[in-house]
Amino acid sequence: MRCLLAIVVLASTQFCFADKTKYPTEFLWGVAFSAHQTEGSIEGGGDNSDWYEFELGSKNGKPNIKHAHNTAIAVDHWNRFEEDFDLAKNLGAETLRTSIAWDKIEPKPGEFNKDVIEHYKKVLNALKKRGIKPMLAFHHFVHPKWFHEIGGWTNDESPKWFLRYVDYVVRELGDLCDLWITFNEPVLQVAFGYMIGITPPLLYNPWKAFDAAWNIARAHRMAAYRIHQLQGPSPNGRGSDGKLRGVGIAQSTQIFEPADPKNPDDVKVVSEIEELVNWSFLRSIEEGHLRMQFPKSLVSSLLGGINRPLPQDDIPMGETFQDWIGINYYSRYVIKKSSWSPIGLVWVTPQINLGDNGWQIYPTGLEKLLVKASEFKKPLVVSENGLADAIDSRRPKFIRDHLKHLDHAIEKGIDVRGYYFWSLLDNFEWLDGYEKRFGLVEIKYGDNLERVPRPSFNVYKNEISERRR
Ligand code: GCO
Repeated sequence: MRCLLAIVVLASTQFCFADKTKYPTEFLWGVAFSAHQTEGSIEGGGDNSDWYEFELGSKNGKPNIKHAHNTAIAVDHWNRFEEDFDLAKNLGAETLRTSIAWDKIEPKPGEFNKDVIEHYKKVLNALKKRGIKPMLAFHHFVHPKWFHEIGGWTNDESPKWFLRYVDYVVRELGDLCDLWITFNEPVLQVAFGYMIGITPPLLYNPWKAFDAAWNIARAHRMAAYRIHQLQGPSPNGRGSDGKLRGVGIAQSTQIFEPADPKNPDDVKVVSEIEELVNWSFLRSIEEGHLRMQFPKSLVSSLLGGINRPLPQDDIPMGETFQDWIGINYYSRYVIKKSSWSPIGLVWVTPQINLGDNGWQIYPTGLEKLLVKASEFKKPLVVSENGLADAIDSRRPKFIRDHLKHLDHAIEKGIDVRGYYFWSLLDNFEWLDGYEKRFGLVEIKYGDNLERVPRPSFNVYKNEISERRR
């Protein structure tokens, strides 16, 4: 009799697990990549970008990119976008996030390449034909070389140069796209490009880094206003179809946790780092005042920070600068305050459940970040989530576990409008070259860049369809 009761109980729990969370019909399921990581640099422009020039270079005899990889061809998405969009369609993707190549569109200051913009019209029409809504980033770490030759983001004129590019693109592509990212991970751009100098423009100058952050914040606000002037506002981040619309930032966010939650020093340094890395830039955009402060409890506090008003820049008061906020999430970092360390802390993340690049897989973190980000009282979108896993041994569970925590966020009433898995295809992973594989679809680099869906492709496909019933 007892075993019969157990079977009934088990069956009922199985039954209730079978009920997937109900997602709003306007929710967008998608995939993400970027132009530079997939298109191929030669097509559409040749060597106009700061990153392609960097990829061909070396330092102290060592190539700048692992295995001396470069993006000359990348995965040839420039020529194979129809094939790639068929894969996205087969997956059940309702939206696809990529970027456009500023270096190809504007190879010289103020001179725009008509052939390149016509190419992007073909790309967007190919998405439209498949009923896939595009999300386009204007800036995903890559610049035209001329931009740095005249001072880059440390030049206070730079927001106007960026606005000129945004204005041109929205006027040319605005009938095919109404969902825009101004900057992908601006804080990482500033940190890696201007603070520690490991990526273009390779500056190692904390003070110039804060100037760059200030101009990027201005550029975002000016671009957001221009997009709203050209395409109209997106009340509550929605278009007439109720789906996500308008402009936002794809913000890199991480989970930082204290090694000892009872140690006030660990707790304090974690909250200071989390504010600096995850939230300060977004908060500044809203408040009209750039406040980024190195953790006071660390020696780096000697570098101070920045506390500088953002000028109105001819924007009327009351403008909405972020129609929604994009959350890029990958991993967790556990931190211990330590006077033995020159930087005042040590990273003590448990070395278990890691991606191929050592990032810890921590699905709970997605839910925690969405709850935290909801404090901005803006629509949210998971603009990146994925892992490096060349043999696809962890990706199936990664997908199921992270979507379970996305379910919890939705059930809590967090206003999440979409989810973009990074990535549809293996692609150029910056300093790691092509070694780190993030794709639901494997690229056979030695075999004509053939696209071969991994088992996790069908896992994500099923997870989407179960939430669409
Ligand atoms: C980033 C970018 C992507 C990466 C992805 C995996 O965070 O660096 O947005 O271009 O390829 O996040 O690292």
